[in-house]
Amino acid sequence: MLRRQMLAAVLVMAAAPAFGQGWPNKPITMIVPFAAGGPTDLLARIIGERMSKELGQQFIIENVTGAAGTIAMAKLARSAPDGYTVGIGHVGTNVANAVIYTKIGFDLVNDLEPIARLPANPMLVVSSDNVPARTLKELVDYLKANPDKVSGGTAGIGSGSHLGALAFNKATGASYQLVPYRGTGPAMQDLISGQIQVMVDQSSNALPQVQAGKIRAYAQTAAKRSPAMPDIPTAAEAGYPMEVSIWNGLWAPKGTATDIIDKLNAAAVTALADPAVRKRMEELGQDLPTPEEMKPAAFAAFQKAELARWKPILDAAGVKSE
Ligand code: MLT
Repeated sequence: MLRRQMLAAVLVMAAAPAFGQGWPNKPITMIVPFAAGGPTDLLARIIGERMSKELGQQFIIENVTGAAGTIAMAKLARSAPDGYTVGIGHVGTNVANAVIYTKIGFDLVNDLEPIARLPANPMLVVSSDNVPARTLKELVDYLKANPDKVSGGTAGIGSGSHLGALAFNKATGASYQLVPYRGTGPAMQDLISGQIQVMVDQSSNALPQVQAGKIRAYAQTAAKRSPAMPDIPTAAEAGYPMEVSIWNGLWAPKGTATDIIDKLNAAAVTALADPAVRKRMEELGQDLPTPEEMKPAAFAAFQKAELARWKPILDAAGVKSE
């Protein structure tokens, strides 16, 4: 009897997935650099849920806010490189902030290990429904006629919504008072209530509110209209050429083993290949990367190219942390 039990035990062990050193054998923490309810948090939950099916362990979301994601990325960089802590970020948290925040004590680009590039969000220029404008030109004229009287939400200096505000200002010459939030989830609530009046926000956060009739959209910041938003003109069609997209990605602490990075990458690729996930992302206006673009090395090269692209823009705009 004992011999049969031992044989059965050996067979079960042999069938176990051949993860390096049994990884993952406990839940994985995913650090999210903005408040719950915003576009980054939403993406983390969709991707994390589907990746957990691949890896057989839950992803536990930890919202770590402040300094437009810099505090979260510092926590990620300090975490053990054991594959049990990853972080989701975007062009603001992991490229722009490398230019803007110069005294953070770690290298945002070189002290983190790229895992996978994730979907990108075009942005929407939106307002609360009490703003007297029906077109982007009317909104621009209203802002110019009421300097310093109109408030708009961001998630802090270097956040995606801040990059959107910079691009809006460059394209239109109009600006608004920047009100910082811990994420554009909370900012959206104040936009709906009219507490703030405008925002340039990621489609995944703004489009559902536009479709529900709670806020007004004037333009999308992409070269061509997303199939998810066929009735919203591009900024160029509305008279003010402006292209800005918030791409997302996953990172791990530097020194995380390559075989774990590769398994996390494979799970992310499988997650984005899932038809239900793709459908949800496309309905939110998101652009999905190819498996090739998602690969760690390709993502690392893309991030470095984005840093070279954004640095002169941010330097010219004089954007530095307070
Ligand atoms: C969020 O998730 O709140 C946004 O990514 C914040 C931002 O970058 O604007």
